[in-house]
Order: sequence, then C-alpha cells, then structure tokens
Amino acid sequence: MDRNILVLSNISKSYRQGSEYITIFDNFNLTVDKGEFISIVGPSGSGKTTLLNLVGLIDSIDQGEILLNAKIISNQNSNEKSEVRRNNFGFIYQNYNLFDNFSAIENITLPLILRGEAKDVAFEKADELMNIFDVSHRKSHFPNSLSGGEQQRVAIARALINKPKIVIADEPTGNLDYENSVNVFKYLIDYIESEKMTLIMATHNQEWANKSDRRIDLS
Ligand SMILES: Nc1ncnc2c1ncn2[C@@H]1O[C@H](COP(=O)(O)OP(=O)(O)OP(=O)(O)O)[C@@H](O)[C@H]1O
Ligand SMILES: [Mg+2]
Repeated sequence: MDRNILVLSNISKSYRQGSEYITIFDNFNLTVDKGEFISIVGPSGSGKTTLLNLVGLIDSIDQGEILLNAKIISNQNSNEKSEVRRNNFGFIYQNYNLFDNFSAIENITLPLILRGEAKDVAFEKADELMNIFDVSHRKSHFPNSLSGGEQQRVAIARALINKPKIVIADEPTGNLDYENSVNVFKYLIDYIESEKMTLIMATHNQEWANKSDRRIDLS
C-alpha cells in the first residue's frame, strides 16, 4: 500500500557490552502511515533512541529491512544513506544540538546552504520559519544567549526547513519546564499537521503520547 511511508520488517539489533551481546530488537515490525504521528514510549534503556537512530539511518540494523516509500533503504552504502537522510528526514534532539558559533538564523539556514541553496533564498525561508516559531526577535543571537524553549524552537525550524517527509524527535521537550514544553510541543505539532509531515517521537511525557495517533510501547 502506498499509504505506508515507512516499514520496518523483522528488524533485529544487538549491542555488544563487554563479552556479551544484548538484544534490543528481535524481529521487530512497524508500519507507519503517511502523515501519522507515532509516539515511542517505554522506560529508560528500552530502546527508544536506538529505534529512532535505526529509522534515521544513523545506526544500522543487524537483520531485516527498512523501507521508505516501498524502497529498501537499509542496505545502501553510507553515501546513499546520507542522501536519503538529507532528502527525507528531519531530526530534533533533547539537547537542541545547535551550532554555538552560528547565530539563530544561520543555524536554521544550514540545511539549505548544505544543499546548495542560494544564500538569500535560505535566509528568506529561515526568516519565515522564525516568524512561525515566534523566535524572529532572536535572529542574530547565538544559542548560548537563548532560553531553552527558544533554542528548541530554533532547532525545530532548522529540522523542518527542508520540508522533510519524516520528522524524528527524541524527547524534544525533555529538557524544558512544563510551560515551555507545552509551548514547544504546540508549535511543533501545528506545523507538522499543516505540512502533513509524518512524526515519530520518543517521549516520557504521557500527555504528548496521548495526543499521538498511535503509541508504540517498547517496555
Ligand atoms: N552504541 C551502543 N553500544 C552499546 N549499547 C548501547 C548503545 N546504544 C544503546 N545501547 C544500549 O541499548 C539499550 C537501549 O538504549 P536506548 O538509548 O535506545 O534507550 P532509551 O529507551 O532511549 O532510553 P532513555 O529513555 O534513557 O533515553 C540500553 O541498554 C543501552 O545501554
Ligand atoms: Mg533515549
């Protein structure tokens, strides 16, 4: 079915710890529909980050297949994987991961600049997103002079500027107080819905998990 944007088919993943292997996934299956919001829940160490890293081709599976739009992407070489990542995925992390030496707006333009987009076009698009995410008063500020909520809204704008088909978020509000986390979540969800993007989000927050279309519990 072409409704399925992403399929994990019988994937397995183990990590070596000392002389032993610990199995995180053993013949795990997941099918994600286009536009779906999937929450990944489970206790610490249950494999949420591992799963997101496998889906985003940051880490590789031991067995099985990952398909994006019915095409196998898990067996590609690292250049091809980088290209798949750049063209299809947007990543949002708990720690924002902004580049300290670039201003807020420069951080947001980076994915476009790396794609070879003209500078003025990149800055125009970043400007537009900064308005949407309500951080336009912080354009020339550097990350260390932004609040946590502002840093995350800048990081989200950076993740979304390429209009990724699939957004991968690992505890995006995990470092924020309640008020800021509500705010950041709302900006994220509103934009994802308006652009019909697919969202896969690991979270400890039951409130966000309850708002997802489907909850995958790894415990
Ligand atoms: N690169 C690695 N090498 C060895 N073991 C790893 C590696 N990455 C993760 N693990 C192990 O895999 C298991 C799952 O880790 P993972 O980070 O996916 O959990 P998590 O559900 O994201 O936890 P948290 O809620 O704390 O973020 C843990 O036991 C962890 O120690
Ligand atoms: Mg994690």
